[in-house]
Formats: sequence, structure tokens, C-alpha cells
Amino acid sequence: MTQDELKKAAALAALDYIEDGSIVGVGTGSTVNHFIDGLAGMRNRIRGAVSSSEASSKRLAAHGIQVFDLNDIDSIPVYVDGADEIDGGFAMIKGGGGALTREKIVAAVSKRFVCICDASKRVLTLGRFPLPVEVIPMARSHVARELARLGGEPRLREGFVTDNGNLIVDVHGLAISDPVSTETRINQIVGVVTNGLFAERGADLLLLAGSQGVERLQ
Ligand code: 5RP
Repeated sequence: MTQDELKKAAALAALDYIEDGSIVGVGTGSTVNHFIDGLAGMRNRIRGAVSSSEASSKRLAAHGIQVFDLNDIDSIPVYVDGADEIDGGFAMIKGGGGALTREKIVAAVSKRFVCICDASKRVLTLGRFPLPVEVIPMARSHVARELARLGGEPRLREGFVTDNGNLIVDVHGLAISDPVSTETRINQIVGVVTNGLFAERGADLLLLAGSQGVERLQ
């Protein structure tokens, strides 16, 4: 199977966890795009969705799925999203698509985080994938200096602006042995909106697609 076929298999497995009549939390990325396409087949069974990016909102709307403003919703039973890396404790690096801040916000409101991945995303230690950090534009140089002090190599994502009007700095070369403390430490740098470590609130369920099928891990 190709990587995209594996992504699709993981994404479609997540449909089993969607509650009838509920609002679904929807992440961002190529794996989630398969999930959105699958969700379209059961759109009459859900109330609608809260989305983590303009791209996902557009795709949901194109399928006739109503997209709600998060501020009008008290709680979301299930949030479905992909990851760039996920470790054994279900801490993740996310934000390869630059949607990390809204993803973290929707995940925070959701009762259950269902992570959908192909097997290549599973790692022992997070950090091979460059850690995305969303930054207020005027703080770009200050934040980059502070990130370099942590031992990584910060690189501005050229030509990219987030849905929130901010910049992304990708930090290369970090070996993240304590994801919770690294997440907290980076978020304390003035000018950082948030970083792509999802450790404080990791995934609750991992649907991991490999050549043998989809493993359901929790
Ligand atoms: C976007 C994300 C994505 O979930 C992550 O980048 C994985 O993407 P893909 O499903 O395309 O491999 O965090 O901000």
C-alpha cells in the first residue's frame, strides 16, 4: 500500500468513533482530508463540525457539512487529526501544515483526541521532524534567538503565513526527551503563540495504519 492509502485507511477507521447527532472536531492535513471525505458519507447523522483551519472548513463546506464557530459550542466529543510524529506516550509533533494553534484549541475543547496516522509517523523520540512554532511577526528574531538557546536550529518557514496572520519557525535538530517540559518552556517565550508539541494534551486513541491493517492503540 502507498503512504496515501495507509493515511486513508487510518482516516476511515476514525468514522467508527463519531457519535450520532454530535459536533465533530476536525483537524488539518492530507490524512484529515480523507477523514472529511469519509465524514461526508454520514453527514446526515452528525450536527456538523468545528474546524481547525480555513482549508478544512472549505472542504467540509464543499461536502455540505455545516461548520460551527467554536465559540458557539460548549464541548466536542471527538477530535480527529493527524500528526507529523507520535511517540509511545501519544505525545505528538504537529503543525507540518501550519495549523497547530487552531488544532490545539479545538483539541482542548474536545473530550477525546483520535489521532490518525500511517505507521511512518510512530517514533521512539520526538524531534526528527522539525518542531513548528507559531510566532507573532514582530517577535520573529527574538523567538529564533531563544529557540537556538534550547539547542535547536530555528528556520523561518519561507513565504508562509498562518490562518491567524502569524509566522512559523521550524526548529530542526531537537531530541525531545521530555515533551511536556519542552512544550511548556517554548510556550513561555514571549512572542510565541504556541508550539507544535501536543504533550500536555496528547492523543487518547491512535489509529495507526500499516501493511497488516489499522491498529487501534490506547
Ligand atoms: C497540520 C498537522 C497535520 O496533522 C500533520 O502535519 C500531518 O499531516 P498529514 O496528514 O498531511 O501527514 O498538524 O498542521
